[in-house]
Amino acid sequence: MSFWTRKSRIVITCAKGVSPFLKQEILSFGFPVLSEGKAEVETEGTMEDALKLNLLIRTGQRVLFLLESFNAKTPDDLYKRISRVSWEDFIPEDGYFSVTSSVHNPTIKDSRFANVKCKDAVVDRIKEKRGRRPDTGPERDKVVIHLYWRSNLCQVFLDTSGEPLSKRGYRMIPLKAPMQETLAAAVILATGWRGDGNFINPMCGSGTLAIEAALIALGRAPGLLRGNFGFMHMRGFDDSSWKVLRRKIRAEARDRLDGRIIATDVSQQAVEAGKKNAMTAGVDRFIEFGVCDFSETPVPDVGGVVVLNPEYGERLGEIEKLKETYRKIGDFFKKKGQGYRGYVFTGNLDLAKKVGLRTKRKIPFFNGPIECRLLEYDLYEGSRKRT
Ligand SMILES: C[S@@+](CC[C@H](N)C(=O)[O-])C[C@H]1O[C@@H](n2cnc3c(N)ncnc32)[C@H](O)[C@@H]1O
Repeated sequence: MSFWTRKSRIVITCAKGVSPFLKQEILSFGFPVLSEGKAEVETEGTMEDALKLNLLIRTGQRVLFLLESFNAKTPDDLYKRISRVSWEDFIPEDGYFSVTSSVHNPTIKDSRFANVKCKDAVVDRIKEKRGRRPDTGPERDKVVIHLYWRSNLCQVFLDTSGEPLSKRGYRMIPLKAPMQETLAAAVILATGWRGDGNFINPMCGSGTLAIEAALIALGRAPGLLRGNFGFMHMRGFDDSSWKVLRRKIRAEARDRLDGRIIATDVSQQAVEAGKKNAMTAGVDRFIEFGVCDFSETPVPDVGGVVVLNPEYGERLGEIEKLKETYRKIGDFFKKKGQGYRGYVFTGNLDLAKKVGLRTKRKIPFFNGPIECRLLEYDLYEGSRKRT
């Protein structure tokens, strides 16, 4: 059986807090969920399924296809076992690959040592079988091998994504404190918004939430925006069936929205960046951008969601100033948010209290190392004071 049609475990990694939404996505695409961790969800399928997942998944970071699983106590055990894998079937001898790892093994102090051992085993094997050896290095834009080593259990994966899936390719101008694309998608899925009603995004920055909202509402697969994935550099990759799959998935997208997507920011520069990013993502005609204070953002009558990602501040002076901003967010919700669900994504819960409205839900997320919350305010009945 060809390696491309063999079934194996597939682990999809994600930011901490995102796995419940990744799990929903995987199930909605008709794949089983074998297990769910804090920062990954496990499913199963063939390499062809892995290609599909790379195209469809909005909230995951890397699609890892399990190649081998074995016991290894020491770096020499690792080398021996990895040398037995028929790497010459996956990696062209004139190709390039890199190794990433997650290692917790008492014999390894620096995970880079495990990476080098793995790399040597792969290179030596291919040189022996094919007479030439591929290049190696830190770039992740070609074949990527991922090593997971806990105590004696070692799992060797092909990282079929290569570059993380958060790098959709549309954010040419990130500006300050942009939200990662995969996190933005998870935040939107957490609000329950799927294109029904309006999506209002004051403080839009470089437009990530609005762009991801447009992609979700249109049913456009985020992977269609990327031209490069790790699997494309593997032996046996069939470019013509990949094109057929892309065409099929592209044809499933819609070309109109039911609601409106409105994105504003007080910074002209941010809005310009947002427009350019939306253009690169091919969704600029679906987003109404504007420059204004968040409180002036138009909120049309029909309802939907209002999502804000204000700064959370690092220095004391900033935090003092932000208290007023958060208080005004509460006023804005009360004044203009009737008929909407309001959301604030923040890493500072003390500041969030200044919003002054009762939260309906507090959904935990991590933005890099910072623990954050997506706070939900039900604005249907207008203002309801914190009790
Ligand atoms: C944390 S950033 C948002 C990042 C955004 N989610 C992204 O992915 O790029 C906060 C944004 O709020 C904007 N902002 C701050 N105060 C504002 C105000 N009073 N009215 C409107 N926008 C404001 C800033 O210009 C900044 O772009």
